[in-house]
Amino acid sequence: MEKRQELYAGKAKSVFRTDDPDRMVLVFRDDTSAFDGKKVEQLDRKGMVNNKFNAFIMTKLAQAGIPTHFEKLLSDNESLVKRLDMMPIECVVRNVAAGSLTRRLGVQEGTELTPPTFELFLKNDALGDPMINESHVEAFGWAKPEHLAKAKELTYQVNDVLKALFAEGGMILVDYKLEFGLFNGEVVLGDEFSPDGCRLWDAETKEKMDKDRFRQGLGGVIEAYEDVGRRIGIDFDA
Ligand code: C5P
Repeated sequence: MEKRQELYAGKAKSVFRTDDPDRMVLVFRDDTSAFDGKKVEQLDRKGMVNNKFNAFIMTKLAQAGIPTHFEKLLSDNESLVKRLDMMPIECVVRNVAAGSLTRRLGVQEGTELTPPTFELFLKNDALGDPMINESHVEAFGWAKPEHLAKAKELTYQVNDVLKALFAEGGMILVDYKLEFGLFNGEVVLGDEFSPDGCRLWDAETKEKMDKDRFRQGLGGVIEAYEDVGRRIGIDFDA
């Protein structure tokens, strides 16, 4: 496999073509951004930590029968993935109220959500990723109804697997965002799963161990990500 030209550079990852039209290389950079790119910093080791974190989680999900784009780690900060035709939407599940939900609905952070909520957002930086609903997805053709239904089912399945995994490590999976795409007509989990795209709290102290540490200027961002990783069995030195 040969890495070719850059296809796309996002806020924290870059994507490269390979000599195989169906495979891409994801490069996890040290860049960390929040508030639609208004706050950006370089955090030492972040690319490596998120790359290995994502590889571990994607492997766990695949073992649980959830199709993912992840193929293998290539280096400390690079992974080989399948090239998906991405749906321009974000699927968010919340087990506990935090973040935009508390602002939007005026509910107390920490309120348990039973059953968990499922929300959709349009991936559109210029519009600030607005919240949308299933009829918008269908009316604007962002995904076929059956593909959206599958993405929703898989998003809930991920919740069952990861809530249990993080609970074993003494943490609460508060919420998370997933992105899906199509590979040979099948709905497959793409993008990444790392503490950049979820909220994780220590189950006892409720200490934040995710990107809210960066958003809220709490410090110790990468130390917290590594702590999360170690608690679920990731060896970042491997
Ligand atoms: O900001 P909000 O509370 O809606 O975020 C819900 C979850 O989705 C959080 O875990 C957040 O980190 C994640 N998210 C993300 N990328 C976005 C928006 C939200 O990873 N563009």
